Amino acid sequence: MLSAVERKIEQFVAELNDKEVERLYAKLPHGKRLRAKLILKVAGEKLPVIKTAAVVEMIHAASLLHDDVIDDADTRRAKPSLNALYGNKTAIMLGDILYSKGFFELNNISAEVAKLISNAVTQLSLGELKDVSLSKTFNTDKALYLDMIYQKTASLIEAAAGAAAVLAGKPKTPFMIYGRNLGLAFQMIDDLLDITADSATLGKPALHDFVEGKTTLPYIYLYEALDESGRGKLKSLHAKVLSREEQNWIMAQMEERQVLMKCYAQARELIDEAVELMNAQGEDALSEIAMEMIDREF
Ligand code: FPP
Ligand code: MG
Repeated sequence: MLSAVERKIEQFVAELNDKEVERLYAKLPHGKRLRAKLILKVAGEKLPVIKTAAVVEMIHAASLLHDDVIDDADTRRAKPSLNALYGNKTAIMLGDILYSKGFFELNNISAEVAKLISNAVTQLSLGELKDVSLSKTFNTDKALYLDMIYQKTASLIEAAAGAAAVLAGKPKTPFMIYGRNLGLAFQMIDDLLDITADSATLGKPALHDFVEGKTTLPYIYLYEALDESGRGKLKSLHAKVLSREEQNWIMAQMEERQVLMKCYAQARELIDEAVELMNAQGEDALSEIAMEMIDREF
């Protein structure tokens, strides 16, 4: 039950004996807890499983606190981000506190689980650094983009699925592939929603990624599909605040070349592969979580 995970996180936070941290944590919107759901679905609800799910969600929350500072984001889940409310210093430190407490608790679970999760946090950080570096220029290399989103997003979901399999005494590899595919699809949809969802639903301005310098998969496919002059125009708009007309031009070009459908189909393929793999393991219940990754509006 997801509420057991919420209580466990609250307990871990309360153990820090710091009223300010408790207050700040209470301000964080929880999100969908997809990683925790996945862990419980694979491994049941015994205490080590609940603890692992709590630690993974704490690490995820920490990574988003840091990410919002790095991305200069004013909103998170359609609410003011913690950095917008209390400043970067507080957001970074709350991230460090959640992350280090989570790490401390990992030691009480199992060495194999600790290894999987801690390695994923290194990958997350390497991926975020790549995201920052790639944003400095107009990246057109799809392989670099896929590597980056694997590290930045998929690695923690892959590790969560692997850790859950270890705790349940199930074979690690198929679950890790399932988690990896879900993570890649999740980030691809996230990047699509940055273009398609209206800014009120998403809680951030339209085409925010491109303005921030991120050439996500739809921009890479659009670049590939455009002629020389179109490519030049797209490049000239990179990492700039866009006028309504410029936004409309990008959207119209994407529509004309069916770029968004192509990206959605690619995410869908990863999900279908993940579902098939789990069905082969007799884990039909895991297909529901897989579908949640792609059928979302924010
Ligand atoms: C969101 O990307 C960011 C991530 C999924 C991972 C960020 C990871 C770090 C900052 C490293 C964390 C390290 C430690 C030690 C906790 P996004 O900006 O594309 O997505 P968004 O639209 O949700 O902001
Ligand atoms: Mg971000």
